Formats: sequence, C-alpha cells, structure tokens
Amino acid sequence: MKKLLPLVTAAAVAFSLVGCSSSSSAAASTAAASSAATGNAAKPLCWFNRQPSNSSTGELDKTALNFNDSTYYVGFDATQGAELQGQMIADYITKNAATIDRNGDGVIGYVLAIGDIGHNDSIARTRGVRGALGTAVTGSDGKADYQPVGTNTDGSSKDVQDGKVGSLKVRELASQEMKNSAGATWDAATAGNAVGSWSSSFGDQIDIVISNNDGMGMAMFNAWSQANKVPTFGYDANSDAVAAIANGYSGTISQHADVQAYLTLRVLRNSLDGVDIMTGISKADDAGNVLTDADYKYVADERSFYALNLAVTADNYKDFTDSTVTYKPVSTQLDSSKHATKKVWLDTYNSADNFLGSTYVPLLQKYDKLLNLSVEYIAGDGQTESNITNRLGNPSEYDAYAINMVKTDNAASYTALLK
Ligand code: BGC
Repeated sequence: MKKLLPLVTAAAVAFSLVGCSSSSSAAASTAAASSAATGNAAKPLCWFNRQPSNSSTGELDKTALNFNDSTYYVGFDATQGAELQGQMIADYITKNAATIDRNGDGVIGYVLAIGDIGHNDSIARTRGVRGALGTAVTGSDGKADYQPVGTNTDGSSKDVQDGKVGSLKVRELASQEMKNSAGATWDAATAGNAVGSWSSSFGDQIDIVISNNDGMGMAMFNAWSQANKVPTFGYDANSDAVAAIANGYSGTISQHADVQAYLTLRVLRNSLDGVDIMTGISKADDAGNVLTDADYKYVADERSFYALNLAVTADNYKDFTDSTVTYKPVSTQLDSSKHATKKVWLDTYNSADNFLGSTYVPLLQKYDKLLNLSVEYIAGDGQTESNITNRLGNPSEYDAYAINMVKTDNAASYTALLK
C-alpha cells in the first residue's frame, strides 16, 4: 500500500526515529560544508538511477560518489526490491500450484529477460529471481551467478540449476541480455522478439515470463504471453504495466520513483540552500515536506539514498495506476522568497528508456516546480556517453547537475567537464 500519512503524523514518525536510524544519519554532512573544490567542481552533483560503480564487479566508484562535499547518489534498494520480486513470483507459484504447469510435464518453466549484465539493478534482479525460485548457483566470484543461460530446456546449463518452490520443480528454460544491435540495453523490442523465438521452439514448456523491468516485460506480454495466458512479471510499476494487471499482467515492483525523483532534486536544493542535507527528507522543511524510514534509507559511507520498493499485484494495483503522481508527504511548494530559483542541468541516458521516460522524468518535471528549480532536461541515445557529454558544453551556466550515465563505469567522463 502506498503511504499517504497525513503530514503531521509523518513528521512525528520521522522525528521520533531520528537518532536510532541509519537512514536519518547524523553523519550526513551539511551540504554547505567547506570544500577544497572551486568553480563548477564545487557545485552540487546528484548521480541517479545508475550508481557510479565497476560494471564487472559492482564495486562502488567512491571517487565519483565523493566528487565534492555536495555529491550524492539517489536510487533504490536493489537487493530489497529484487528479493521482493522473487518472492512475489514464488508466492504466485504457490498460490496457483494446481494450475500453473501448462503442459503437465512436472516442471515449472520460466524465461527471463535480462536488462544489462553490467548494471547493478539488473544483476540484483536476476539474482533475486533465481534465489527465490531455487535456480541460483554460486559463480566464480563466490556470489550468485547472474549470467544469461541462452537456452536451457534440458536443464544442463552451468549458470543455473533446477530449483524448487514447495514441492514443484522449477527450471530457467531461457534467459538473454536484451541488447539491440546498436548496443542499447534493456531493449523492449529485443525482448518482444526473444519471446517470439522462445515460444515458437518450446512455447508449451513456458509457464512464467519474467523480466528485469516492465519495458521488456510489457513487450513480451504484448507479443505473446497475454494471448497465451502465461503469467508475466516485471519491475518498475510503469503506468502501462500497472494498467495491464487488469488484463492479466501478473505483477510488478514499484521502486518508489515518486520518492527517488524527489530526492534527486531535493539534495540539490538543500546543497544550494546551504542547509542540512536531511532537510525535507528526515526533517520537515519550512513547508512541512518530510519522508519517513518506510520510504528510503541513507547509507552515509556510500553517499547514497535508496528508496524502498513495494510489490504491486492484483491485490493492490489500483493504488498505483498513475506512476507520475508526486508523493503526497513531499508535495508542498517551497516559498520562492526563501528558496530562489536555481538552474540545474539534468540528463537521462536514453530517451527511449520506458521507466525513465514515462515515470521518472514526468515526476522530476513536477518536483522541479515545487522546489523552485529550473531544470534543463537532456536525453541521450542509450549507447554513447559523448552523445550526452557533448551537450554539457557550458557547465558554468548551471548551479547544479544531476547525471544518469550510459554506463556505470563512466562517471569520470562527466566530472572531467566540471572544472
Ligand atoms: C529501471 C529500468 C531502467 C534502468 C535504466 C532501472 O532502475 O528499473 O527499467 O531501464 O534503470 O538505467
């Protein structure tokens, strides 16, 4: 259920938690803290959606996360959300045990669309699904393997094993990174084509369709699984996916984009105002905006805010039908006489990304007004960092920056421009 606590209650809860919670950490620095950096290098910077990190090992890029004293990352808790997605699917299997095995072969077969094998959210979701369905194996790095299997209809893949949910045997029949020929990842059209070829070679064995996101999940639902009444699960709670729950899409996860979009701009606003970074986050601001510990967590040594995820299924989808509505507890306009308009440069890595384009950016466009920020929005081609960095020709024109990289390894291509 979405939290719609009255402001006063929400504020009281938040205050009562201060001091005992890691998310309301006293270690969060005051945004205006003095820094050796000057000029553009000292301006507030928020990484969002793609956390600066090594795309092979997942190790955080602490240099980028500590670029200056006003640098933060905003995303969501990938592990918590991934476990929730896996659990939602396992619960569905348990609940529908009597009917789920479509061809009665004694194996619950699923196919999995993987977004980007170098993206930490995608990796977490693949692991979350395999973990909950018992199909995960330990990879060479000692952690759960997240590699695509290609096809595994005979159960011989080394990257997964046959799992169990209750007494039912589960098999990952196929999985693939959905990357198009131009290199764009999380590619919905590629996922639609993949389910077409999987279904034509082993369609009657497919009992469940799973995707790392709704963009790809909906492409598979529209291409095949809706017509064949095969349960389909995605992630993101995009409005079209939530609406499709009424027509048989089985479930998705809300990554609380309404909280993430707020935090993305809020940390910039606070840094520009020179106030405690937790203003309007764990502490009510002068307009009464505040979040609670149920909405997000803050990990001080990662300089990162993570929104918490919620499962969206047939039981509760009506609360999530419009993914672009701002979160009520943080939807009060700031007074422009106290928070003067500032200019922000913000990019999204791919103009064709369903989640960013249909959910995140529309939310940002509402919060920018509430927070008195004049934001210039740039969208990349999803493939080359230079397509975006070329459009940050004059960083001095802006008071702050919000950055969504094509690849999580590439933070330095942006910070190099902020001198
Ligand atoms: C979203 C995906 C999106 C990706 C882009 C993920 O957090 O869930 O849908 O495509 O971010 O970076």
